[in-house]
Amino acid sequence: MKQITVLASGRGSNFQVILDCLARGEINGKCVALITDNKEAYAIERAAAADVPVVVINFTDYPTKTAYEVDLFAAMKETNADLFVCAGYMRLLGSEIIQAFAGKILNIHPALLPAFSGMHGQQQALEYGVKIAGCTVHFVDEGLDSGPIIIQKAVPVFDDDDEQALDERILEQEHIAFPEAVALFCDDRLFVSGRHVILLPEKN
Ligand code: GAR
Repeated sequence: MKQITVLASGRGSNFQVILDCLARGEINGKCVALITDNKEAYAIERAAAADVPVVVINFTDYPTKTAYEVDLFAAMKETNADLFVCAGYMRLLGSEIIQAFAGKILNIHPALLPAFSGMHGQQQALEYGVKIAGCTVHFVDEGLDSGPIIIQKAVPVFDDDDEQALDERILEQEHIAFPEAVALFCDDRLFVSGRHVILLPEKN
């Protein structure tokens, strides 16, 4: 059974669906910690309700990102996790962390990558005028939302969509795609070959 540490900065709805799937035995893992960079994150309450230990490394208490990342790296190592899940973690991870945990960090992004990387993927899609938007679960590499793609889910964009309507439609798909990807990782079914993630058959 894989040990999972979640990184989240805010609301934590993706964290919650992963907790729910773990509780129902739909993911072969255990959430061993929530690490947050934001002491106000609602994700903290979700962790407490599920008896998941919380580590707060409050970004704004640090003089520099480097100083913050020293403590973040130490906390991540301390959790001894097999998998790190960025569930609305709103900062780029530094290269030392990414190299140390290569192939073990997943992220959810609210756009169909490689389009609209970075912040506010949904808003970028809306402003660009695309007709199809969606979400992407990918491995984290040293680029911006550029790692190998595991799962993508698409949604239509309607002419009268505002940002909230599109956010909600995408979020619904995030809540399906993310636990699916985490479950596949925990079952050792993701094989990475260069940029390609190959889905291995189920073991019986
Ligand atoms: C989600 O839409 C996620 O895709 C996005 O933040 C939201 C977090 O919601 N992540 C990013 O934009 C990362 N660049 P949640 O806290 O309710 O899971």
